[in-house]
Amino acid sequence: MQIRQRLWIYLGLSLAAAAAGTAVARIGETGWTLFGTLFLCVLVATLILEAVGFGSEVDRSPGPVERPVPDGIREKFARRILDRLPFALILIHADGRITYLNDSARIVAPWIERRSHYTNSFRAPMVLDAVKATFADGKSRSADFFVVSGTGERHLQAKVAILPKAFGRDQQRRVVMEIEDLTEKDASAKTRSRFVANASHELRTPLASILGYVETLLGPARDDPEIREEFLRIVHDQGLRMQRLIEDLMSLSDIEFDEHVPPESSCDVLSLAARAAEALRPLVEADGRSISVRLPEDGKKKMAGDPDQLTQVFVNLLDNAVRYGAGTITLELTGADPRFPGMFGIAVSDEGKGIAREHIPHLTERFYRVDASESRQKGGTGLGLAIVKHILNRHRGVLDIRSDPGAGSCFTIWLRDPETRS
Ligand SMILES: Nc1ncnc2c1ncn2[C@@H]1O[C@H](COP(=O)(O)OP(=O)(O)O)[C@@H](O)[C@H]1O
Ligand SMILES: [Mg+2]
Repeated sequence: MQIRQRLWIYLGLSLAAAAAGTAVARIGETGWTLFGTLFLCVLVATLILEAVGFGSEVDRSPGPVERPVPDGIREKFARRILDRLPFALILIHADGRITYLNDSARIVAPWIERRSHYTNSFRAPMVLDAVKATFADGKSRSADFFVVSGTGERHLQAKVAILPKAFGRDQQRRVVMEIEDLTEKDASAKTRSRFVANASHELRTPLASILGYVETLLGPARDDPEIREEFLRIVHDQGLRMQRLIEDLMSLSDIEFDEHVPPESSCDVLSLAARAAEALRPLVEADGRSISVRLPEDGKKKMAGDPDQLTQVFVNLLDNAVRYGAGTITLELTGADPRFPGMFGIAVSDEGKGIAREHIPHLTERFYRVDASESRQKGGTGLGLAIVKHILNRHRGVLDIRSDPGAGSCFTIWLRDPETRS
């Protein structure tokens, strides 16, 4: 009931009460005073009750938002929600026609035609059997199938369930089907198992060599001091190789663990780079090579970053330039590059044999080496650049690799410039 209607009722009640009061008294001057007093008392009392909310309890009529929404509008709204759901959904009518598919279904399964019979859209016997059986017994089930598309073979899974009979305007049974694309999940599971296989292989090789040499030392070489010396050195080298590998595997797993947690500490990237180069200088110079550091010392690249991890980036890149490069190693702050707006670059370059173009996109994959035996012989693990990539991901940075075979390589790390806040 609206407030204005209620006020009229209260006014009427007040008048009635006052009239009743004066009817029992005599009409005259005192009668009119009694009438007025009673009228005012009842009116004030009802207005107080209204003010403390008594009226709201009485008012049970639906407000404007409560008005019943016509079925057509409700259906349109529900359809819009279904259309935008991130799952691919299809409705199959009892006569086998596909009566509805949402936007995701059009993307995941673009070959499906609305209004066609489902046996025209699905060829995989497992899927056809699943739909038929669900119509028959009402139980939910799933079926895997494969389709060949422009991007290669895709692994899809159809989950089917019966809808309640009363759904929609007619009383026909319908089956709802959700289609999930499992291709990417399969690929990441394959990558994981390939990684475990590679890591085991990398560890098994030096371990087999250690066991072989130790057996010889315990047997035929037991009394030969010269062979013993040589074999013990090999055992020691292989042990170090295993240790390097385990250290790299552990640091990769640590870095991956908090890859999505932005670093809290802050550090001056230029001085970290300069320090890493100075630590390597004696090794480079002992090899008859030189290292040129061209970094300003103004501390202007102080940014949010993990100092240990960023040091590891520079050590890994400089280490590679020492191992696989030749000539002078240069560490420098590069000029801006339109490909990396709002970022500054620090480049590590060498004058070595370079890297053929086809290898470059794969260098940051775990255990990828251009020449596996050269890497092993030089003490590499095949994980250095994978570690660099994950550290840069955490720091929202990018690794850019350029190389001209025969003319050296240049590895540039790009980080967000603290001077150009974005
Ligand atoms: N400066 C470089 N010059 C030539 N090849 C390089 C250079 N840096 C890296 N590479 C190639 O990239 C591969 C992967 O490097 P990395 O991930 O650090 O592994 P590792 O050094 O342990 O072999 C190396 O095995 C090498 O073939
Ligand atoms: Mg390396």
